[in-house]
Amino acid sequence: MVILILFLLITSLGSVINASPLTACPYCGGFEVPYPLSTNDNCGDKRYKIYCNNHTLKFLSPTGTFYNILKIDQNANKLIIKPPTIHKNTCYSSDLFNGGLVLDENLPFNISTLNTVMLLNCSSNILQSPLNCSSNSICRQFEEKVEEGKACMNTLCCHYLKDSAMNSHKIRLRVGSCTAYTCLVNFKPGDPFETWSYGIELQWVSPY
Ligand SMILES: *[C@@H]1O[C@H](CO)[C@@H](O)[C@H](O)[C@H]1NC(C)=O
Ligand SMILES: *[C@@H]1O[C@H](CO)[C@@H](O)[C@H](O)[C@H]1NC(C)=O
Ligand SMILES: *[C@@H]1O[C@H](CO)[C@@H](O)[C@H](O)[C@H]1NC(C)=O
Ligand SMILES: *[C@@H]1O[C@H](CO)[C@@H](O)[C@H](O)[C@H]1NC(C)=O
Repeated sequence: MVILILFLLITSLGSVINASPLTACPYCGGFEVPYPLSTNDNCGDKRYKIYCNNHTLKFLSPTGTFYNILKIDQNANKLIIKPPTIHKNTCYSSDLFNGGLVLDENLPFNISTLNTVMLLNCSSNILQSPLNCSSNSICRQFEEKVEEGKACMNTLCCHYLKDSAMNSHKIRLRVGSCTAYTCLVNFKPGDPFETWSYGIELQWVSPY
């Protein structure tokens, strides 16, 4: 009996050791970097590349924009990036001239279905469902109550839930279409302005 238990212990220990060549990356400025995210070639899984720049975790788009990572949920395979800033006294998002948020379709990340996007300073040619461009769209509150949105006032703005019917690799911006955006994670209609959680939630395919 004792021998049997010892045997079981040793074999299960062996399988644990065999199953863990998967090294998580070191902390980045106090931020845990869970597997499979990878800040360098010696850890994580290279397909899940992110950056640790100046003690801050960043996500790089294929168009060359870095987005700060605000939160990582390893169990849900999700991370939240900070929406780009809107340049002062303009209604231009910092990634406007890179076409807005663009993800590489060959990488394992996509935009999750929990994001409510507000498009700002739009031209009327984008008016179409499922965009809500009415005068009570939540984008009006963003423009009226948030300093960053003030320069966007008195132009057309819209919001929409970025669900599975939408392109999950892009939030598109263009001069002559919409020139700025922001985004809320897990927004529910009627949620008061003070409780909004700004971010863009990305999801990754499990590496296993
Ligand atoms: C690095 O981060 C610090 C604190 O957040 C900031 O003051 C500094 O300007 C940053 N340096 C660079 C090169 O981005
Ligand atoms: C647009 O959004 C506002 C605020 O959430 C909501 O009250 C209104 O019913 C929506 N309009 C349409 C046409 O969906
Ligand atoms: C709004 O967009 C138009 C072009 O689409 C641009 O010319 C204008 O400067 C933008 N407004 C602001 C306040 O940035
Ligand atoms: C995004 O990726 C997740 C994880 O692979 C997948 O389950 C989901 O269907 C994808 N979403 C869309 C809209 O393609």
